Amino acid sequence: MKEFQFIHINEAANEFHLSNQAVSYIFRVDPTTHQLEQLYFGKKIQHRKSFFYLVERENRPANNLYEGNHTSSLEHIKQEYPSFGTTDFRYPAHQIKWPSGDQVTHLEYASYTISKGKPTLEGLPATYVDSKEEAETLTIILKDIYSELEVQLNYTIFSTFSAITRSACFINRGTTTIQLENAMSASVDFPDADFELLHLNGAWARETHVERKALHTGLQSVSSARGASSHAHNPFMALVRPETTELNGEVYGFSLIYSGNFTAQVEVDTYHVTRAMLGINPFRFNWQLNEGDFFQTPEAVLVYSDAGLNGMSQTYHELYRTRLARGRWRDKERPILINNWEATYFDFNEEKILEIARNGAELGMELFVLDDGWFGKRDDDTSSLGDWVEDKTKLSNGIKGLSEKIHQLGLKFGLWFEPEMVSKNTPLHDEHSDWVIGVPGKNISHGRNQFVLDFSRPEVVDSIFQQMDAILHDAQVDYIKWDMNRYISEAYSDALPPEQQGEVYHRYILGVYELYERLITKYPDILFESCAGGGARNDPGMLYYAPQAWASDDTDAVERLKIQYGTSMVYPLSSIGSHVSAVPNHQVGRVTSMDIRSNVAYFGTFGYEMDITTLSDADKESIRHHIQFFKKHRALVQQGTFYRLESPFDGNTVAWMLVSKDQSEALVGYYQILATPNPAYERLKLTGLNPETMYIVEPINQSRYGDDLMAIGLLFADDVTNGIEPTWKFNRHGDFTSNMFYLKSNDSLEDKKWE
Ligand code: DGJ
Repeated sequence: MKEFQFIHINEAANEFHLSNQAVSYIFRVDPTTHQLEQLYFGKKIQHRKSFFYLVERENRPANNLYEGNHTSSLEHIKQEYPSFGTTDFRYPAHQIKWPSGDQVTHLEYASYTISKGKPTLEGLPATYVDSKEEAETLTIILKDIYSELEVQLNYTIFSTFSAITRSACFINRGTTTIQLENAMSASVDFPDADFELLHLNGAWARETHVERKALHTGLQSVSSARGASSHAHNPFMALVRPETTELNGEVYGFSLIYSGNFTAQVEVDTYHVTRAMLGINPFRFNWQLNEGDFFQTPEAVLVYSDAGLNGMSQTYHELYRTRLARGRWRDKERPILINNWEATYFDFNEEKILEIARNGAELGMELFVLDDGWFGKRDDDTSSLGDWVEDKTKLSNGIKGLSEKIHQLGLKFGLWFEPEMVSKNTPLHDEHSDWVIGVPGKNISHGRNQFVLDFSRPEVVDSIFQQMDAILHDAQVDYIKWDMNRYISEAYSDALPPEQQGEVYHRYILGVYELYERLITKYPDILFESCAGGGARNDPGMLYYAPQAWASDDTDAVERLKIQYGTSMVYPLSSIGSHVSAVPNHQVGRVTSMDIRSNVAYFGTFGYEMDITTLSDADKESIRHHIQFFKKHRALVQQGTFYRLESPFDGNTVAWMLVSKDQSEALVGYYQILATPNPAYERLKLTGLNPETMYIVEPINQSRYGDDLMAIGLLFADDVTNGIEPTWKFNRHGDFTSNMFYLKSNDSLEDKKWE
């Protein structure tokens, strides 16, 4: 028996138990088949010398591996990393095409190693530790019985998070070239199917909507084959018990730290075993492994919660905010920005930009972001991508001159790039038409009139780096908005041989990661915000490089309730790009108050995106007030514990709240979509507070104990106790209304009545 800090190993029985205060993950090596057998994943249980009692076998009709043996069917063993061609008829976690054309691989357990901390994954984003004491990593080595193929399965358990990270590495230790056709990051077999599948789906301007449906027998999945994680789906799914709510019940989350094609798949077999898998989408994927080559899969992060969906989200938030996001901006307060996109689109000059910036500075904003249209001859979306040279007809002093003037106003300066794209009629396209992804001689489709540069080629990445470097080297740039406005449809690289064309999507995203890495290494003070026509690449992979992500091009407050509610399933508020924009809203035409627009945008990285130079004095005054409010609560927003209380997918009211780590303060957002005539009594139960603490609730100036606020809640009835004329205490009259409450502990105060 070997005991490490978080990993217990029964060497005689080959059992592995990873556990911390929250979670247990147990598997063993089946002595008959030498396969890894999943025994338990869930709430932490005490360690036992042996978990043999968790092994389940039934006498079932089956194909068995060994003659004379009737319990060696892998179809009936709950596995950790199933292979094809070894009696399991469910979908495998990996697939290899051997030179003969056969696809039978038989991986058997060989050995294990343990390391303190967590190794990095070369070229790939991944969670990390700041000190070796924070985690332990178990590597299981599997060997194919027919070849020199070795597969390493990595499992990390952290000291504090209710999470296990997994990835796999395929190493060709032989001399024969082989084709890897599928390589999942993780696969887990659960002993039952009493789950619902929850995932995030959508489209441009309505990303990350929450969908939840009961599992059925057979296959169900969400995936992307668009070259990006996509607007349509997010590399995340959760298996949720039917009775689970936001605050109670069991959830298993699966999140992939990856920005390219992915699949999140669940297969329920006829014995109600649920196989959950996550990894690179095998559709259009293959990877050639020559002698000595290895292939490292992205990392999957498996979270267990018995405190409902909020419990799962809080683990992801904390882990991703502190141990996935990196760099100088990780823990720093993020600047309140003003972006010119919806103010000017392509039609601006230096004077207009400075006018916006001047107004922004006066109102208390901190960062001016110059969006699309500053380079080449880009007056609309038909030209100039890839020509990253400032347009002096718009910006007479260039980016350098403009950045200096913005700094003189006391603002930081941010700049938009779309590094992965090229327009026709640019020097880049004229010189290197073969740098475009697409099949020579066949049609190459455009998206927003633009073409995708072949980032699978290092020379292409290098050339874009040189262009960006020239700008960044000269100008004072504090922030970059990295956009990406179309998908890859004809995945083909001129630089790869036919048998490696299945590598294009993955090589492409590795190229994107490489460019990010080079830029953040050379410019560590720049704050990056990832963006992809809104939320088409709002995934954990991007968070490793850019601690913020533009959640959606849809800035309408009502739509944003859904988008931000869904995004918060996985992503911390410190990463959710959220702006106040003009009305009528440019995406949906809706008119909402400045208050609700702010009250929604507060729950993210707060900013503005409108022509603030034309606003009325009253609007400017409210902006000034909102900015002061956000500055006061910014630390709580960025680092507090977030709870979703009422879902926009369920009803007419939406609520969420943040509680500081020491429970001394909280911020509650309560929103009503449509006005209700003659409404029923309404209450909002809060959560996460200290039951013993007396809180002052502003702006209603009510003092209430934490237990009272959590058991009874905030009461929304208008006050008619003093007469028949109601005093409208709350903003509930009219459509699209909102109320913000700030709770501050004040234990010294005696219980007070309404004032
Ligand atoms: C799409 C982004 O999501 C927008 O915010 C804006 O930057 C435009 N692209 C610019 O073309």
